[in-house]
Amino acid sequence: MFDLKIEGAEVIDGTGRPGSRADVGIRDDKIVAIGDLHREPAGRNLHASGKVVAPGFIDMHSHSDWRLWENRRAESKVRQGVTTEVVGNCGFSPAPVSSEFLEDLRGFALHVPAGMDFSWRSVGDYLRAFDASGTALNVIQLIGHGTLRVAAMGFARRAPTAAELGRMQRLLADGIEDGAWGLSTGLIYAPGSYAATDEVVTLAATASRHRGFYASHIRGEGATLLDAVREAIHIGREGDLPVQISHVKAAGRPNWGKVADVLALIDAARAEGLDVMADVYPYTASSTTIRTLLPDWALEGGIDAMLKRLADPEDRARIRRDIEAPAGGQSLLDRIGWENVMIASSARRKDAEGKRISEIAAERGMDPLDASLELIIDEGGKGYMILFQLDERDLRRALTHPAVMIGSDGSALAPYGELAAGKPHPRSYGTFPRVLGEYAREQRVLTLSQAIHKMTQLPARRLGLKDRGVVAVGSRADLVVFDSRKVADRATYQAPHQYPLGIEHVLVNGTFVIKDGHHTGSLPGRLLTPP
Ligand code: ZN
Ligand code: CU
Repeated sequence: MFDLKIEGAEVIDGTGRPGSRADVGIRDDKIVAIGDLHREPAGRNLHASGKVVAPGFIDMHSHSDWRLWENRRAESKVRQGVTTEVVGNCGFSPAPVSSEFLEDLRGFALHVPAGMDFSWRSVGDYLRAFDASGTALNVIQLIGHGTLRVAAMGFARRAPTAAELGRMQRLLADGIEDGAWGLSTGLIYAPGSYAATDEVVTLAATASRHRGFYASHIRGEGATLLDAVREAIHIGREGDLPVQISHVKAAGRPNWGKVADVLALIDAARAEGLDVMADVYPYTASSTTIRTLLPDWALEGGIDAMLKRLADPEDRARIRRDIEAPAGGQSLLDRIGWENVMIASSARRKDAEGKRISEIAAERGMDPLDASLELIIDEGGKGYMILFQLDERDLRRALTHPAVMIGSDGSALAPYGELAAGKPHPRSYGTFPRVLGEYAREQRVLTLSQAIHKMTQLPARRLGLKDRGVVAVGSRADLVVFDSRKVADRATYQAPHQYPLGIEHVLVNGTFVIKDGHHTGSLPGRLLTPP
């Protein structure tokens, strides 16, 4: 007797093999039978002929740790079929926290929802506080290097002392023992960008001793892309741990085509026996904070110090010079131009949302650089922008590479209330259906089974998750039932808050979170701890 039987669907099991027609029997939170089960009784039957049943999707690169506090239903993620998210990426996580540098952490945080009161200090306390209220999907937490650095030394722009480095190592080690999965860096974001390679190697080695892995937003994705990939691989080699290169891309027209070189570096590292992999999202625009435009010295000392510099004529002139002609790099203008930068969210300048900086500047009779600096001031450094700066061919190369999986780089949003603010990058709503619809069915860049593999078994293996990522007897019942003819993303840059089409049912740990396209309100997700 099953609790639930999914009947007559095409099972695409996550391994990359083509699908076959079978029934799936579920008892409690597990898959207990697969095959012709028409004689077997079940408490509930779900007729799914003509549909695909696949393992729940694993979002390898997410920032939902901030949003899930106010969005326990994880709306924009579960509607895509996501059943597990890896959060704490790009060097940002809400813990650990030190009392000494709490205000610096508030400045570093980009969105602090209600309920996120930083009453915790350790990662363990944080995870318990988060887990107390439940979520619709499973969560895997990483520890951000930026957060660690803020806890140990605030926004100091120098190497850590031995004591500070020791403190970061202890916080990281304790955090992994308390349930986090490893270390993430954001080496373009202050204060993570203030770290030399050795500091990251030391922390990576600590993570390795506790069996954690390393996810990196690398030190450059434009002119310095290949050196940045080499640095990440070096950290994996020296630190002796698996490396995940986050949201692989080559930013800016002069750098288009370089994703092929990145993939060659990954292949060479793998041939050497190193465990190096990457993730990608299926869009040709990226998104980050507007303050990322600033040279990293401008953030020394934190957000208040940054705002003071922007108000000081001499500092501001120096900031302008460094943006226009950065030392040893390409300026934003060399890379894409202001007409390719769109303001995504700006709580205090709603009129700017959805507009290009060139347009905003023309309206205000300012030059575009000044218009950007004014926006950073208005927002206290918390606004987001979207940069149309990637190459479709690079994206296709990444999507088809065997060591590349899917990660949204987005957050769990929803088309209502606070969660619907601004025009955030559509990846938060569309990533997984877009890979299945646009890139597998329409463009045939990869087969449906390959696409599913990159969102299921491949990330599950990377994480060492033995009981998820495949439809197999004994696996947890994280499942998606979708219509492969209809599945499609609907979120656009101008109207991002739209759920995709074709995702009909989603089960997390054997419980329906999406049933007939509607959220059930159930919160069966778990905080997953490392094996
Ligand atoms: Zn990133
Ligand atoms: Cu990220």
